[in-house]
Amino acid sequence: MARNHILLSLASLLAAAACSAPAHRLDIDLEHPGAPVQPTMYGIFFEDINYAADGGLYAELVKNRSFEFPQDPLQGWKAFGKVEVRNDGPFDRCPHYVRLQDPGHPHKWTGLDNEGFFGIGLKEGETYRFSVWARVPDGGASELRIELVNTASMGENQFVCQEALQVSGKDWKQYEVVLRSSETLEKGFLRIFLVGDRRTVDLEHVSLFPTDTWMGHRNGMRKDLAQALADLHPGVFRFPGGCIVEGTDLATRYNWKNTVGPVENRPINENRWEYTFPHRFFPDYYQSYGLGFFEFFQLSEEIGSEPLPILSCGLACQFQNDDPSAHCPVDELRPFIQDALDLIEFANGPVTSTWGKVRADMGHPEPFNLKFIGIGNEQWDALYPEHLEPFVKAIRAAYPDIRIVGSSGPNSEGDQFDYLWPEMKRLGADLVDEHFYRPEEWFLAQGARYDNYDREGPKVFAGEYACHGAGRKFNHFHASLLEAAFMTTIERNADIVHMATYAPLFAHVEGWQWRPDLIWFDNLRSMRTASWHVQQLYSQYKGQNVLTLKMDGANVTGAEGQDGLFASAVADGNKVYVKVINTSEQPQRVELAFGGTAVKAVERVDFTSDLMYEDNTLDEPERIAPVKASFTGEGKSLTATVPAQCFSVFVVER
Ligand code: AHR
Repeated sequence: MARNHILLSLASLLAAAACSAPAHRLDIDLEHPGAPVQPTMYGIFFEDINYAADGGLYAELVKNRSFEFPQDPLQGWKAFGKVEVRNDGPFDRCPHYVRLQDPGHPHKWTGLDNEGFFGIGLKEGETYRFSVWARVPDGGASELRIELVNTASMGENQFVCQEALQVSGKDWKQYEVVLRSSETLEKGFLRIFLVGDRRTVDLEHVSLFPTDTWMGHRNGMRKDLAQALADLHPGVFRFPGGCIVEGTDLATRYNWKNTVGPVENRPINENRWEYTFPHRFFPDYYQSYGLGFFEFFQLSEEIGSEPLPILSCGLACQFQNDDPSAHCPVDELRPFIQDALDLIEFANGPVTSTWGKVRADMGHPEPFNLKFIGIGNEQWDALYPEHLEPFVKAIRAAYPDIRIVGSSGPNSEGDQFDYLWPEMKRLGADLVDEHFYRPEEWFLAQGARYDNYDREGPKVFAGEYACHGAGRKFNHFHASLLEAAFMTTIERNADIVHMATYAPLFAHVEGWQWRPDLIWFDNLRSMRTASWHVQQLYSQYKGQNVLTLKMDGANVTGAEGQDGLFASAVADGNKVYVKVINTSEQPQRVELAFGGTAVKAVERVDFTSDLMYEDNTLDEPERIAPVKASFTGEGKSLTATVPAQCFSVFVVER
């Protein structure tokens, strides 16, 4: 109490001092609008890391649904009674299935439990679609009982709901039944019993989805997580990674062709993040590919983003492979290049084309209007340009309008970065993907990063970034504030920076390998971080054209003498959005001066928090959030105080 009182008094004193100090004058030039802010500017980066896909955005609740996990086809399952795994099933790329037989004693049972991803999240009153491919190999009919189970229950029954399912005939068919949960449960189980006269039955592709998915798709996304993406209004949607594009080896790189067509026949893939950190190890981390390229394109369309797929350039992850033989030799790249060309056909080709037909058969005869493609993720050394060059030639020859994204490697500066940028220019990449996971000082020093970039070269895609606090490599408000400060340089340089995506996007609280991340979730709930709010504010107040904003004739970049201020301004029709980030520990008075033009204050949003080194939590998901603040007045200039460590957006109208 006493401490809070002292802090409050100190804050009031500082505020009073700020009010008496002369204001920093920010001159905003309304007369000469600058470069357009690209519609793609603020976007999202999706990678299946931290259980972002299976167990996360992809709403499937059954783990190892096709019995294909290579170490153990029953990983994720508990079998009881007489269960046999067989491998001559109806789907050639997912051949395993289970045979359930009479356990041989009237008081025994045959069946299976599935543990889901860290359990199966169930909500009271909500419905779940159980589906399965099945047959009765000897003909006739067989009966199953499907249950959603609370194994921790102290009640008479463990099941929270159950339904009967009849299977008949020797041919494989898909069956389904809808269950309504009578409980909310974070860690439920799926249980299947062979009942009735216990006639032998075969089961394949056992699936459970909430019926209430994003946009109601059967093979759909978890609604709250997809909504958290839609609410960012992302201009670009980069997928599927990240390092999983490359794979721990080429055999396990992300292979988009395995991710399209009927879900039952998409072969699983090892997740590269299974092997990355032995100190955060998840030996059951596989990609079902149920969230595949069709679903990525469809989601991009539904949330209004330009899709940006990134494909392997024939180099396995260079962090994990020192041996040059791990990579595809340049003269053997043809299949990789063909994958890229076929992907463009899958996205944009007519329904009469081979891959356009695959898209149409999946329910989207209209093209997805793909405009961008990335080749290679974080590659480096001469290996990368050597590999990229034949892709560029082939894509340019076949699809001259597609814009190609190259990479400047994993570092924000340094030898590799300095080597790769000119190489990307030489090869004619349209954009260069820069990555920076850096500490506070780096973010504070980057306010002018793009001011002197070569305006004749490729455009910038700030494709992966996040402030990783020194000793605080977790989500917290202060890191988000510095990301906001850094983003002023992106915005001021919109002529050259065309895309920016924070990374990574998602993390399951029980399944993460990497943090900080933009959105956290468990099996029932999700939470938007402070960094999410920063992204959302930039996106919401993106505007159409950059406006020149100067303080004492200089850009506001947190430079020496600028009192920790960063700022940028954009025009949006007759509105102007001025973003001011005060990274200092003192409130700062600012005068927003609009030359000869009189403006009217419309709105102000402040984003700040006393919880400097904390973030929202699943229990308190909204404790750090932007709030509307008072902002009134009319005239050629308006004065306001930006609190210490605050990101303020001022909206004025001409
Ligand atoms: O975002 C996590 C990882 O960081 C990405 O997979 C990779 O591109 C980068 O090293």
